[in-house]
Amino acid sequence: MAAVNQVVDLSVDGGVAVVTVNSPPVNALSVAVRDGLAAAFKQVLGNTDIQAIVLICEGRTFIAGADIAGFGKPPQGANLLEVLRNIEGASQHVVAAIHGTALGGGFEVALACHYRVAVPSAKCGLPEVKLGLLPGAGGTQRLPRIVGVARALEMMTSGEHVGAKACFEMGLVDALVEEDKLREGAIAFARSLIADKRPLKKVRDLDDKLVAARNDPQVFADFRKANARKFRGFDAPDFNIRCVEAAVNLPFDEGMAFERKLFMELMAGVQSAAQRYAFFAGRAVWKIPDVPADTATLPFAQVGIIGAGTMGGGIAMNFLNVGVPVTLVETRQDALDRGIATIRKNYENTAKRGRLTLADVEKRMSMLTGTLSLEALANADVVIEAVFEDMAVKKALFAKLDAIAKPGAILATNTSRLDVNEIACATQRPESVIGLHFFSPANVMRLLEVVRGDKTSNAVIATSMQMAKKIGKVAALVGVCPGFVGNRMLAQRQREAQALMLEGASPQDIDRVLYDFGFPMGPFAMSDLAGLDLGWTRETSSGQTMREKLCELDRRGQKTNAGYYDYDADRTATPSAIVDHLILELAAAKGITRRAIPDEEILERCIYPMINEGAKILEEGKAIRASDIDIVWINGYGWPIYRGGPMFYGDTVGLSKVLDKMREFEAKWGADFRPAKLLEKLAAEGRRFQRLS
Ligand code: 3HC
Repeated sequence: MAAVNQVVDLSVDGGVAVVTVNSPPVNALSVAVRDGLAAAFKQVLGNTDIQAIVLICEGRTFIAGADIAGFGKPPQGANLLEVLRNIEGASQHVVAAIHGTALGGGFEVALACHYRVAVPSAKCGLPEVKLGLLPGAGGTQRLPRIVGVARALEMMTSGEHVGAKACFEMGLVDALVEEDKLREGAIAFARSLIADKRPLKKVRDLDDKLVAARNDPQVFADFRKANARKFRGFDAPDFNIRCVEAAVNLPFDEGMAFERKLFMELMAGVQSAAQRYAFFAGRAVWKIPDVPADTATLPFAQVGIIGAGTMGGGIAMNFLNVGVPVTLVETRQDALDRGIATIRKNYENTAKRGRLTLADVEKRMSMLTGTLSLEALANADVVIEAVFEDMAVKKALFAKLDAIAKPGAILATNTSRLDVNEIACATQRPESVIGLHFFSPANVMRLLEVVRGDKTSNAVIATSMQMAKKIGKVAALVGVCPGFVGNRMLAQRQREAQALMLEGASPQDIDRVLYDFGFPMGPFAMSDLAGLDLGWTRETSSGQTMREKLCELDRRGQKTNAGYYDYDADRTATPSAIVDHLILELAAAKGITRRAIPDEEILERCIYPMINEGAKILEEGKAIRASDIDIVWINGYGWPIYRGGPMFYGDTVGLSKVLDKMREFEAKWGADFRPAKLLEKLAAEGRRFQRLS
C-alpha cells in the first residue's frame, strides 16, 4: 500500500485500485482528506490497468462528513465538488465501501460513486439540517434521484441516520456484504461489475424518480404544511426542501448551482453558527478538566430509588430501559402500588404506539422490585433519593442510608434546589454523595444536572456522567447553588414575567413574545402545564402573588382547566377575564402604574437577566463553561437550538448591548438587574462568552 499523503493510501489488487482514508476519529473531510482523495483519484482515473476503484475507510467509520471545525474558515485544499465531479466522471467503476456512519459530505462522496456496498451495521444519512445547513456537495440533487422526492425530503429534513438494510431496500446501497469482510466484499463486488460488464451508474443521469413530483408540485406544499410545527423558526428545513424542488425542476448542473447558493447562505447565517456551536458544546459538556477521562469508575449494576412518585417512577424507567435492575422504595404500600402501576401503564402506552413489544414491557417490569424496606438497598451500587423537597426529611433519610448502603455506593439526591453539601453532611461519607437533578418527566427529558458537592469524589462524578450517558441523558456538571444552573436562571425569567404582567403586559403577550423567540411555550403556559400549586398550601397562602391568588380560586393550572388561562376539554387555552381582573387588582394594591409595554422590552427583560445570571454562575465556577449552560437550556428548557443557548445568544446580541440594557434596567428597577462582574469585564474587553474556555 502506498501513501498518497498522511491520511490517504492507494493500493492495487489485481486491476482494482483501493483508495483508503485513515483520518481519525471520524475520517471527516479535512483539507488533508480532500487533498489525499484528489491526488489518489488523479493517479488512477484513466489508468487503463485499473478497471475499478474501491473507496474505503479505516477506523470506526466511513467518512462522517465535512470537517465541521473547518467551517467558516477561508477555503483551503482540494475543492470537494471538483473531487466528486472527477469521481462520478471516472471511466472505471467506482465503488464506495461503507461501514460505521456515512454522513453528510461523507455520504455525498458515496453518492458520487457509481455503486455503494455496506456492511449491515452501517448507517447513512444527511444530517446537515441538524447543523442548520443543507447537503452542499450534491446530496440534495443526487439523493432524490435515487429514492424519490418523498423519502429525500424526509431524510434531509430529519437528518436521521438510515440503517444499511433500509438503504439497500431504497436503492441507496447496491449490495450488503458480510460484517468484518468489507474490503474483500467490496473488491469482489467491483470484480463482478467488470465481469458482468455493468454500466457506470451515474446518479446525475437518473430521472425516473423525479417525474412524479414534476407532475405534482403539490407534494412540496403538503410536506411543508404537514411539518410546519416541527420546522417552526428554523431556516434550514425549507432551504433543504427548495433544493429538492430544484432537483425536480432544473437540469443537474443548475440544481447543483442552486444548492451551492443556498448552502452558502445558510453557512453565513447565525442559525447554522448556533447549531454548529451546539454540536461542539454537546461534546464538550462531557469533558471535566479536573476529572480525567481515564478516572476509574464505580459499578452501577444495581440501582435503588427512594420515592415512587412521578419523579422516582420516571427515574426508574431510565434504568429499566437499559437493562439495569431497580429496587423502588416507598413508605406506604398504596403509594408503591400506584408508582409501579404508573410505570407499567407508561410502558403499555408505548407498546400501544408500537414502539415497544409486550414482551419488552414484561422484561422491563421483571427488573423492577418494589419494597417498603430501606434495608433492601444494602446491595445497591447507586441509590437515588426522590422524595419531596424538605431538607430535614432528606437529611434524616441520608443518615439512615449511610447506615444501610454498602461502602462505596453512590448516594444521590434528586433535589432541584436544596444544598447538596448539607445533605452530604448528614452522612459519614460526603465523598459518595452527589446531586442528580432529573427534569420532569424524568423518563422523557434529556437533561441531567449532575451536582457536584464540595467533597464529591472524582470517581463518583465520573461514574455519574458515565451512567447518564448509558441512560441516554445529556449531563452537565454543575456546582451547588440555589436552583443550580437551569432553575437559577429560570427564576430570573419568571420574576420578570410576573413583573411585566403587573406593569402592563398580558400573560398572552409575554407568552407570545417568548414563543415567537422559539420556546415551545411561554412562561405562563408553562406554569399552567406544570401546575401552579407546587409547594402551595391554602393554610400558608398570603394572597400576595398572582400564583397564590389563582390557587386560592382553585385555578391551579391545566389540571383544573384554569390557571393563567382558561382551558377547554381539548386543553386549548383562552385568555381569562378573571385573570385580567386579578392582575389589575394586584397591580393597584402594589401601587404599580400600568403602561403599554413593547415586545422588545418583554424579550430583553426576560432574557438579558438570564444571561447576566449565567455570567454570575460562571464567575462563581458553578458551571465549567458557558457552552455547558447553553446545553442545559437547550436540553432542559426548550431553548431554540438555532439561537445556540442564552450565552451564545448574548454573544450574538453583543455583550456591550446586554450590559447597557442591564444598567438601564438597574437604574429604573434596582438591584435585580445589577450586572455581573464577568459581563462588565468581557464587554469592556470586547470579548465573548464563547471564547472563555
Ligand atoms: N467534523 C469535525 N469533527 C467531527 C465531526 C465532523 N464532521 N464529526 C465528529 N467529529 C468529532 C467530534 O467533535 C468528536 O471530537 P472530540 O473527541 O474532540 O470531542 C469526535 O469527532 C468523535 O465524535 P463523537 O464524540 O460524536 O463520536 P460518536 O462515535 O458518538 O459519533 C458520529 C460519531 C455519528 C460521526 C458523530 O460524531 C456525528 O454525528 N458527527 C457529525 C456528522 C455530521 O453532521 N456530518 C455532516 C457534516 S456537515 C457536511 O458534511 C456538509 C457537507 O454537506 C458539505
